[in-house]
Amino acid sequence: MKFTIAIDGPAAAGKGTISRAVAEHFNMAYLDTGLLYRVVGAKVLAGETPVDAAKTIHPGELQGAYLRSSEVAQAASRAAVLPDVRMALIEFQRDFARREGGAVLDGRDIGTVICPQADVKLFITATPGIRAMRRLKELDRQRSDLSYSKVLNDVIDRDKRDRERKLAPLIAAEDAITIDTSSLNASVAISHVIEIIQKRMDL
Ligand code: CDP
Repeated sequence: MKFTIAIDGPAAAGKGTISRAVAEHFNMAYLDTGLLYRVVGAKVLAGETPVDAAKTIHPGELQGAYLRSSEVAQAASRAAVLPDVRMALIEFQRDFARREGGAVLDGRDIGTVICPQADVKLFITATPGIRAMRRLKELDRQRSDLSYSKVLNDVIDRDKRDRERKLAPLIAAEDAITIDTSSLNASVAISHVIEIIQKRMDL
């Protein structure tokens, strides 16, 4: 069975938490496409050119706490504006989406550019303030020098850059279902999303 679930949305909207739970529930593979851009960002901070960094990326690099930092996220979003960087990452994502057994991909352009034929498209969002609070909690476990305002600025800054770029901007696909999780806790949001996907599978 091939079944692709595209989950897009702004920074720290909870896409990862929902996508992981969905993949586990339906026993599908999961790709956090933001990690691809974060690896590129980390390599650029280490001195590589963005395009070389994107062309030489390999799955073994997609881990490490450092990748979750705001610095790397900012570098990722700057590199993500470059058409050649995005082009270099398309094939890996599309191959992943087509795998047997089904796949969940989360990012910014999955439903619009990477998998316009996805079986289910979701756009997960929440207010910037709530997203910053959630991200602060997540990062706080590793770093004590982070403030709410710093994290909020990162989120707002990246959203603006991601929305305003010419190629593959952050936007809900026309046929995406938008879910605002501002007043939902993770388990309620996950149940809601699983229900939507199950209904689509039963059609
Ligand atoms: O976890 P968070 O939502 O904060 O960010 P992420 O999904 O890890 O993505 C980091 C950055 O990569 C984003 O701000 C985007 O600039 C870029 N990105 C993208 O352009 N396209 C994607 N499909 C995924 C991420």
